Amino acid sequence: MQAIQVISLTLLSVLAANAQVLVAGKCPKPAVKENFDASQYLGKWYEIEKLPTVFQKGQCSTATYSLKSPGVVGVLNRELLANGTINAIVGSAKAKDPSEPAKLEVSFFENSPPGPYWVLSTDYTGHTLVFGCSEYGPVHAEFAWILSREPTMPGETLFELRDILASAGVKVNKLTATNQDLAFCSAMEQ
Ligand SMILES: *[C@@H]1O[C@H](CO)[C@@H](O)[C@H](O)[C@H]1NC(C)=O
Repeated sequence: MQAIQVISLTLLSVLAANAQVLVAGKCPKPAVKENFDASQYLGKWYEIEKLPTVFQKGQCSTATYSLKSPGVVGVLNRELLANGTINAIVGSAKAKDPSEPAKLEVSFFENSPPGPYWVLSTDYTGHTLVFGCSEYGPVHAEFAWILSREPTMPGETLFELRDILASAGVKVNKLTATNQDLAFCSAMEQ
């Protein structure tokens, strides 16, 4: 009873903080990119679509990956907030199990639990599809990001990536587009 109350309260506060995609049951376990090669993945990516999260509120979002040390990828996420300020957050990612290199875990703050970052599909030079999921008792929170090397993405690629998510049972109807309009995002170019 008490545990259920705690879970409900946690859920309510997450929901109140808005727009996390919560779904009943266990996390989907989609197939990931085979032989994922982090070295080809480094550099800058533009966010095209994502499932809403409580920790990303801006537009023009980019992710820049660098090699921090062998097996550890540095993460720099930037976004333009509604009030015109740029929000930047740094973290690091590594594969929990080296035999599953596409299943990364990202942490942004010391002592905070790392979040799953699974690369489902990437060609390294055009697109990447990232999925994450965390279970909270009877429900799970789904995360997904569709990223591009350019501020735009061919419609055909976008549809293919949405299809991969949909086949895994991810709530693709909740995906939201990120504004990457060059003029709107010009403040990011520094
Ligand atoms: C802009 O909004 C962010 C987040 O709400 C806040 O932390 C920051 O102080 C604001 N900056 C300005 C200049 O208003």
